Amino acid sequence: MGFKEQYGPWAVVAGASTGLGAAFGEEAAKRGIDVVLVARRTALLETTAEAIRSRYGVKVRTLTADLAGSEELLRGIEGLDVVLFIYNAAAEPQGLFIDESLSGLRTNIDVNCTTPTVVSHAVANRMVARGSGGLVLVSSTGALQGIKVFAAYGAAKSYELILAEGLWDELREHGVDAFSFVVGATATPNFLENAAAMTPDADLLSELISQVGASALEPRSCEFVAAALFQVLDAGRAGIGPRHYSHPDDESAAVAAAGTSRAEVVSRMGKITSAFWQ
Ligand SMILES: NC(=O)c1ccc[n+]([C@@H]2O[C@H](COP(=O)([O-])OP(=O)(O)OC[C@H]3O[C@@H](n4cnc5c(N)ncnc54)[C@H](OP(=O)(O)O)[C@@H]3O)[C@@H](O)[C@H]2O)c1
Repeated sequence: MGFKEQYGPWAVVAGASTGLGAAFGEEAAKRGIDVVLVARRTALLETTAEAIRSRYGVKVRTLTADLAGSEELLRGIEGLDVVLFIYNAAAEPQGLFIDESLSGLRTNIDVNCTTPTVVSHAVANRMVARGSGGLVLVSSTGALQGIKVFAAYGAAKSYELILAEGLWDELREHGVDAFSFVVGATATPNFLENAAAMTPDADLLSELISQVGASALEPRSCEFVAAALFQVLDAGRAGIGPRHYSHPDDESAAVAAAGTSRAEVVSRMGKITSAFWQ
């Protein structure tokens, strides 16, 4: 079965006005699949949609929705034959947990846990009835251990990671490829904006570079990361395992961490976040 037969006619990318989500939309369109781009900023969505339409000639719809709730998205895709669903949106509270507002912490759970659960439930049922599909929850290397400064974010991304792994095992016998896509540092507009506002502690930074190497701290491009996800689908590798990484180095780091004490793994990550978020 070709890509379009397996994962078309419609792909929905949640969190796709810009950056990585827009790049996922582009990869789907490149393969002849019609796309729904979902996010809050209508004007940006329209610009992204027009660029994809004019390049690939597929249908591209936009859906303005706040994914802190799932109703708008569910209504927007009602009756649509959604065969590929990628949940990329994230709320990213940053700062020490005790300083966070409760409303920010609740939004973290709404956007990163509740909405992907509710929408995955709806689309997975349709995919199972159809006997094919792809369901990808975008997670983070920050989900692989507790993470100082991003404690609630890391915990919520870890929920997505484990949910997708469970769905991999439940849905594969129905012809549906569900998996978690673990993303490392990526040059999204959000990442670049944060990075520009930072003045990392020079001593901590050079200590880190000597430990992990400068390249480990370099973000990858959105195009590279989006292509890595679609290579999993192209190559039929989704069936092989419930978790895929945006780069082999991220996978190697995760494997090495599994043989290291949790105290060391968590503290090392805390050093990285502390060096940047002083
Ligand atoms: N960038 C990195 O270094 C990095 C590292 C590890 C993992 N990740 C993961 O990769 C994904 C993309 O990261 P990112 O940095 O591109 O994130 P982002 O800029 O915060 O958001 C990505 C997309 O989601 C949309 N979005 C965010 N909150 C939304 C909401 N409440 N309702 C609807 N749409 C919403 C944004 O558009 P609008 O603002 O227009 O709504 C944007 O199109 C996330 O799942 C993140 O956890 C990123």
